[in-house]
Amino acid sequence: MARASFDTHSSSSESAAEPDVDAGAEQTRRSVLLGALATTACLGCSTKARAGEDPPGSDERPQKGDLLVFSEGDQEGKLITAADLKAGGPPVHAWPKDPTTSVVRSASRLNEILIIKLDPADLDEKTRARAVDGIIAYSAICSHAGCPVTAWVKSDVGDKEVFKCMCHNSEFDPRAGAQVVFGPAPRRLAALPLALADGSLSVAGNFIGKVGGAQPG
Ligand code: FES
Repeated sequence: MARASFDTHSSSSESAAEPDVDAGAEQTRRSVLLGALATTACLGCSTKARAGEDPPGSDERPQKGDLLVFSEGDQEGKLITAADLKAGGPPVHAWPKDPTTSVVRSASRLNEILIIKLDPADLDEKTRARAVDGIIAYSAICSHAGCPVTAWVKSDVGDKEVFKCMCHNSEFDPRAGAQVVFGPAPRRLAALPLALADGSLSVAGNFIGKVGGAQPG
């Protein structure tokens, strides 16, 4: 859009010096404007079409009782059980799934979740109280500018592995409520309470803390 506007002004000033070019410039300006309008209209249509395709509930935040499914990789869409989690990490990336309608709540990127299994002895008191068999879950969206938290790597400031957002290198320690241990993130990742029954994981409550970034991404 900005580019179309620039081109339009440029043509206009050139046409004042060369009348013969004026008709062509006017034609070009009209084409640019019509093209921009058509593009805008199409974008509007496709957004509506996409929104129409999202089933009801797919952009709602995780609800108590939701199941959890893999959000990426070979097993995308498959239910996550305790057996799928390797002790000590790495985390599994997940979406909540409504158990009644089978709708996966993947229409909002703010719903992506990190689930990790750690030694309960390594967790601080608050985190241990929320963990089920050492399994804990957090929002996968960085609290700095809202990038997805994708890495599980050794911390820049310690010898333990941490969640890391590669956008600006913020690090979060899942053993301590995902508090920030490095980088510009202003606050910890939101935590998601879990329940475990017969090896099946489910959501036990709403996110604790704000989900998403403090600044626009
Ligand atoms: S968005 Fe994650 S560190 Fe900036």
